[in-house]
Amino acid sequence: MTGKEDRPWQITIRNTGEDEIEELVEKLSPDAGWAYQERENEGELLLYYYRLPPDELLKSIGKEFEVSKSPSWEEKFRETFRGVEVGRFFVRPPWIEEKKGLTDIVIYPASGFGTGEHETTQGMLLMIEKLLNKTKPRKVLDVGTGSGILAIACSKLGVPEITAIDKDELATSNAKENLKLNSVHNVRLILGTPEAVKGEFDLILANIDFFTLVENIKNLKRLVRKGGYLIISGFLEEDRETLLDMFKRAGFKPLEHMCLNQWVCALLRNAG
Ligand SMILES: C[S@@+](CC[C@H](N)C(=O)[O-])C[C@H]1O[C@@H](n2cnc3c(N)ncnc32)[C@H](O)[C@@H]1O
Repeated sequence: MTGKEDRPWQITIRNTGEDEIEELVEKLSPDAGWAYQERENEGELLLYYYRLPPDELLKSIGKEFEVSKSPSWEEKFRETFRGVEVGRFFVRPPWIEEKKGLTDIVIYPASGFGTGEHETTQGMLLMIEKLLNKTKPRKVLDVGTGSGILAIACSKLGVPEITAIDKDELATSNAKENLKLNSVHNVRLILGTPEAVKGEFDLILANIDFFTLVENIKNLKRLVRKGGYLIISGFLEEDRETLLDMFKRAGFKPLEHMCLNQWVCALLRNAG
């Protein structure tokens, strides 16, 4: 990840008011391709992406904008990603030192997700830590692995056999790099969606989004063994009841949940 081609895209939007920033960022960051934002002089808003949003979406904001390759991506990375403590974990980029006493996870920040900064990732890490204090799953499936952060966390907590899957090629190549950075060798990485996975798992992790979770309820049920666990995130508190009802109808028992800044992470059990 050092060539010019790996640099994020930069979109400069001119004449933006302070009160417009939140709306613009929300509108233009529909998926994991968004990295971060910056404010420049004279009302310029700089947005950084690993994958550009569609042209029509950019044009729809009705503002003057320019697309370029970010000239100083490495310095910006270094300023932006300083590492984050989540429960017993310290998630850090390679240029930050590890912290004594914490379980170290090294993530090269190559996509907008999975650096440990988002509440859904944090909820997942905290729930994994809590569950693994009580039970020792042998086989774990990480659906939507992104940077591989959750698979790496499980490996570091002693899970012997992990499968990690993502439909996005950028994500799987970043995950591959991160597995190497963490010297993790027991994760099987698959490019694809859960339909492609066979077998049964003691624990499934799925930090995806509300609709993808709904779409995959049957797959998740098929893949988690009877009595096995499922940890889900990627949805908001306002959708919790609706979503958990659907999982209940499919044969899951919700055990507990936590909410970080409106983002929910829930632990369920396959009740059979
Ligand atoms: C919110 S990110 C989570 C990344 C990481 N697991 C974490 O907790 O930070 C969701 C990931 O799920 C992937 N994804 C979305 N839908 C998927 C699907 N149907 N099958 C596999 N991966 C999917 C996306 O490409 C993205 O990398």
